[in-house]
Amino acid sequence: MANYRVQTPQRAYDAIVERGCIARIDEFLPARAGRIFVVTTSDVWGLHGDRVKKALGAREHQVLFFPGGEPRKRLAEVEALAEQMMEAGGDRGSLIVAFGGGIVTDVAGFLAAVFMRGIPVMQIATTLLAQVDAAVGGKTGVNLVAGKNLVGAFHQPLVVLIDPDVLHTLPEREYRAGLYEIIKCGVIRDAELFRVLADDRERVLAQDPKTVDAIIAGAVKIKAEVVTADEREGDLRRILNFGHTVGHALEAETGYTRFLHGEAVAFGMHAATTIAEISGRLSADDASAIHAVIRGYGPIPAVDGISAANLLARLGSDKKTVQGKVHFVLPVTIGEVAVVSGVAEAHVLEAIETALGQAVQA
Ligand SMILES: NC(=O)c1ccc[n+]([C@@H]2O[C@H](COP(=O)([O-])OP(=O)(O)OC[C@H]3O[C@@H](n4cnc5c(N)ncnc54)[C@H](O)[C@@H]3O)[C@@H](O)[C@H]2O)c1
Ligand SMILES: [Zn+2]
Repeated sequence: MANYRVQTPQRAYDAIVERGCIARIDEFLPARAGRIFVVTTSDVWGLHGDRVKKALGAREHQVLFFPGGEPRKRLAEVEALAEQMMEAGGDRGSLIVAFGGGIVTDVAGFLAAVFMRGIPVMQIATTLLAQVDAAVGGKTGVNLVAGKNLVGAFHQPLVVLIDPDVLHTLPEREYRAGLYEIIKCGVIRDAELFRVLADDRERVLAQDPKTVDAIIAGAVKIKAEVVTADEREGDLRRILNFGHTVGHALEAETGYTRFLHGEAVAFGMHAATTIAEISGRLSADDASAIHAVIRGYGPIPAVDGISAANLLARLGSDKKTVQGKVHFVLPVTIGEVAVVSGVAEAHVLEAIETALGQAVQA
């Protein structure tokens, strides 16, 4: 069992990594909690809802189903859920238990942020990505037509329960997509975590419980530390964006349909690592070690038909350099990164081309 304290001006709470911790829900509910609304998707509820039901025991609760999927992560769904809460007698004393992947934790977290101007939320993350990333840190929100996560709020939870027991039902591709975010954590801040991912690949992929618990704990510890030091996207929180600059461009370029978020981040980490190497910030040995670990958890979907120039254009600059406009998080050694602006456009283009080539070989 591992507890990581997240301390923000809004609230201090624990992110608990422990097999079976879903059974402990009741401990974290205020003694006089009002109505409890569990927000989930029918697939997750069907697979693991009994754990929540059992843990809530005699506590009266209502289960609200969200349809799931990125296209449904919209304000209209938040409104629909809020209406259901009102019909069921929800009020400012109510509490939300978010039970699902990152889409559920984002939507239910946002619902909690705005329902009656804010009610408490407990985050119970059921995908690897949500466990190591989305559920910790208080960022909540929904998509607009113009882009992802454009409407949202910081709303820190009461507690984050991370129970690795629920991961065995996760599709293998979703599991690997979450692993890329853990690789990210190793590169930005924890050489030992990176070493585990490099050396224990078989155990990680086979979901050996001890290994899985250790890497989840390693990633949650980093997220908790970074959010504690910097709740709102200042320089430190930016380091969590390693691989995300080019990764977001790839997701947008392919209409958010070809790549899972973690897979796009894997691609973006290849590109950022190459930028770091060719701009003289990272040794060739460290660069190839990073590329090898990312590849080791592949493959990611084919990149055919994707143009490097289009990805570059999506980085938000039509100038010769991306100076002052785009920040890159670049590794300087394994376990440490620098946030850099003003990277030469030629280096970015070369790195994207190289990443497209690497993805083809993988
Ligand atoms: N708030 C943040 O800081 C933050 C950080 C990273 C990502 N996100 C958001 O997270 C979302 C992606 O989250 P995700 O990758 O978890 O996707 P997801 O929530 O869509 O979950 C993936 C799929 O797995 C299913 N699922 C969930 N748990 C399962 C389980 N235990 N067994 C079997 N199936 C299960 C889901 O129903 C879904 O079909 C994106 O919208 C992204 O913007 C937010
Ligand atoms: Zn991410």
